[in-house]
Amino acid sequence: MAILGCDYSYARKDEQTGVWHAVMELNAPLQLMLGLNSGIHIAFTPYHELQSRTIEGMRSKDIERPRNDAIYLLHTKDIYAQRKLDDWTFRETYSVLTLNTGGSPEDAAQDLLARIVIASARNNPYDRTTPVSGDEFFGRHETLRGLVTELRSGRVCGVFGLRKTGKTSLLSELGRLFVLGDPQGSLYVLQDLEVLPSGAEQKIPQLISDVANQLKISFGKHGMRTHELASITNCSTVGDLRQAIGAALRRGVGPTKSVVLALDEVESLVGAETQTSEVQTGVPEFFGALRALVQENSNFNVVLSGITTAPIMYPTLYGRENPLFAWAKPTFLAEISRTESDRMIQALGSRMAARWTHDALSRVYTATGGQVFLTRSLACFAAAKLSNDIASREISGALVQECFRQWRRTAVSLVDGMIDSLNRFYPYELSVLELGLELPNFNELEDDFSNEISNLINLGVLIDDGQNIALAQWTQLGSKFRGKSK
Ligand SMILES: Nc1ncnc2c1ncn2[C@@H]1O[C@H](COP(=O)(O)OP(=O)(O)O)[C@@H](O)[C@H]1O
Ligand SMILES: [Mg+2]
Repeated sequence: MAILGCDYSYARKDEQTGVWHAVMELNAPLQLMLGLNSGIHIAFTPYHELQSRTIEGMRSKDIERPRNDAIYLLHTKDIYAQRKLDDWTFRETYSVLTLNTGGSPEDAAQDLLARIVIASARNNPYDRTTPVSGDEFFGRHETLRGLVTELRSGRVCGVFGLRKTGKTSLLSELGRLFVLGDPQGSLYVLQDLEVLPSGAEQKIPQLISDVANQLKISFGKHGMRTHELASITNCSTVGDLRQAIGAALRRGVGPTKSVVLALDEVESLVGAETQTSEVQTGVPEFFGALRALVQENSNFNVVLSGITTAPIMYPTLYGRENPLFAWAKPTFLAEISRTESDRMIQALGSRMAARWTHDALSRVYTATGGQVFLTRSLACFAAAKLSNDIASREISGALVQECFRQWRRTAVSLVDGMIDSLNRFYPYELSVLELGLELPNFNELEDDFSNEISNLINLGVLIDDGQNIALAQWTQLGSKFRGKSK
């Protein structure tokens, strides 16, 4: 540590496990180069066999010091340690490096530094393809506040948007905030409906048992009643599920808990063809049960999310009345604002000691139109071009320009995916869009197709600048509308 110019700011033994925990503070040039602005957590284990729970224990350990969560150091006697660590962490956003004790102190220091540099470069903070929350989640504060208010006042919420607009991320951040307010009294269960089988007959039975199972696990952790939920199988009816949930909410400690069930990817349940004669009465029946549970229990609420607004906007589903029709105000996710985009790019940049010029930020926003996934992906390309030289960690407009063409090639499939989701779930909107492309602008369609135009604006496909309604610039990145914007 002394050779690297680093120092310990903390060291303490965990008496239960016998592991020592310490924090190494990096010197200023190293901090800047690596973009690690807090200490590195080091653990010293006395055991010969390294187990993954040591790493879990390390990451969750409260050490009263700021430490970064990208790189951890570990001293262990296990000679297979680094191979195990690489296996355990290869999908994670953090690295755990072993401290080698062989060789001279100078060699050990050089070797460690080299591995820290590689590990920190591996961690491009813009590069996330799975849903984010916590300190990875940016912007949308007003939306979140609005949703929390809706939930507290007992209204069902609906969050909608095209593919990759950040719905799942918003749902998990919403859950985090909801529980943070009252960790003992709040339960938030996020259920992804994508896993449901596609066949109509198997869908509802599977949904019933999945929901029961998820709630049972979460209720159990909170000391709530699970007896009725435990007897639900995929032979149970929607009515059985409703009764089982109701029992848990009303008996025992149930009434002291607030429960929110968040159902993500509702399009897996309510497909694109909701008006077909295909018998899927299970879907409206399931929604009816949700509605009844929300009405009967002030401590229960539901959030629905997905591409299609059908669950709350269509009066009928599969030939039945839709119990959730007009029950919730839809919240649409589209682009983030320029301020939000700049904040996200800069905050993530500070994790790798990258500074962005105004010109660079502006180019990113122009190219992506504030579509959050596109923004992260373009920023990721630009950040990957940075050198490890401390003096030149600035991302300029020219650097963004330099990676633009390469990025565009990957952006095509992302944007095509978004437009494809429009095609599948908003066919009327798409026809209106195509009609408008033949006209000088979209303004004159507003009278006849106000609903479709308003949905297209809500989805971020059309932009209303107060004077004109026009195709959003980001759509030009895909293959379908290229060259069609005016
Ligand atoms: N609020 C946000 N802040 C930062 N990044 C976000 C945010 N929302 C979404 N992202 C980025 O977009 C990607 C897609 O988000 P996700 O929630 O999976 O979208 P969806 O569920 O709508 O398909 C995430 O992997 C993340 O990189
Ligand atoms: Mg999602």
